[in-house]
Amino acid sequence: MKIQPDRLLADIEALAAIGDTGDGGNCRLALTDEDAGGRELVVGWMRALGLDVRVDRIGNVVATRAGAGGDGRVGGDGGDAAAPVMTGSHIDTVGTGGRYDGTLGVLAGLEVVRALDDAGIRTRRPVSVAFFTDEEGSRFPPDMLGSLVYAGGMPLEDALDIVAIDGAVLGDELERIGWAGDAAVPGPPPHAYVELHIEQGPVLEEAGVTIGAVTGVQGISWQELTVTGQPNHAGTTPMRLRRDPTYVAAETIGFVRRLATELGGHQVGTVGRLDLHPDLVNVVAARATLTVDLRNTDEAVLADAERRLRDHVGAQASAEGCDVAWRRLARFEPVAFDPAVIDLVEATAERLGHSVMRLPSGAGHDAQMIARMCPTGMVFVPSRGGVSHNPAEFTEPEHLEAGAQVLAEVMVELAEVAE
Ligand code: HGY
Ligand code: MN
Ligand code: MN
Repeated sequence: MKIQPDRLLADIEALAAIGDTGDGGNCRLALTDEDAGGRELVVGWMRALGLDVRVDRIGNVVATRAGAGGDGRVGGDGGDAAAPVMTGSHIDTVGTGGRYDGTLGVLAGLEVVRALDDAGIRTRRPVSVAFFTDEEGSRFPPDMLGSLVYAGGMPLEDALDIVAIDGAVLGDELERIGWAGDAAVPGPPPHAYVELHIEQGPVLEEAGVTIGAVTGVQGISWQELTVTGQPNHAGTTPMRLRRDPTYVAAETIGFVRRLATELGGHQVGTVGRLDLHPDLVNVVAARATLTVDLRNTDEAVLADAERRLRDHVGAQASAEGCDVAWRRLARFEPVAFDPAVIDLVEATAERLGHSVMRLPSGAGHDAQMIARMCPTGMVFVPSRGGVSHNPAEFTEPEHLEAGAQVLAEVMVELAEVAE
């Protein structure tokens, strides 16, 4: 069974034309018209392959190729072979995204289906290809929202009420673009789940390795801080009388960098959003709103980092006479993938003659949510320069092909070729 790289590359290019930002990148923020356009295109490909397409109430899409052991419908009457081997990822992007983040996993899944059809292979278990709603979380936090709801990690009603950074309500947007489906959430647990994804970091490239056998996903903490002070005239207000939230925000940004550097290891810290009000050159700000993204593979260290951040900001704000309101946007503990799936990814890559290494994921992925339901693993391929969430995101075609072939063979092993 051989995947056809040209078909995969053509699909990647075709999807990249939707939400094209003109600089090689993509913008398909969750539940925007661009996201809807991507959904229409990919579901059209799924239907053209004869897959049974289900859309659930949070807009996740699961397309299933029947297994020989049953009617192939997820949760159908296939006896012990009813649950599918699932692959997939996401097709929503950040605002300045590339063309491989998420899309590779979904489109490689479709290429696995084509390769099975070309080879006339029937698997005992069904094979499903999914894309999950709002994986990025940058419009509607948290990230991995659709797969979190699919896995039962957030009630549907809570998810539908989430308010975007642009003020839109998730449920309204889902209805507006016409992708509120009727399949129930939580969804039926797969037999196993394997996701192909670009690494989005520098590890594989620096090691000169083609395939990553991903061991798990690091913990994620997203918080929004709103610091309020005393708006005042920039020229007349003596420094001793200021209650300047911008100063507290600046101190926080410096602390996040110092904290991550001091903790070392996998610890990272990012202030990605910063908004001042009234944001005028000659006004001491009334309000500073910023987000802090902290991550670590070690839950205890991540929790300690959160504590130290809260203490530092509290002391700075108090000294400046400012108040701070905290809002949690996302909090996921580190996830370890299934040892047998990790072993299978590693052994398959070696059997196909590819260099392979084990590594944790720095980025969040839908796999970390589906891991709550079934044995789960991921396959990584290198990102040029370790760049992602950036229009310059790029992975060599031969690496895309290698990753998709490893995915295909891992999935067939898990789905079992029918006699
Ligand atoms: O934030 C993340 O790690 C992912 O890209 N949603
Ligand atoms: Mn992704
Ligand atoms: Mn991403």
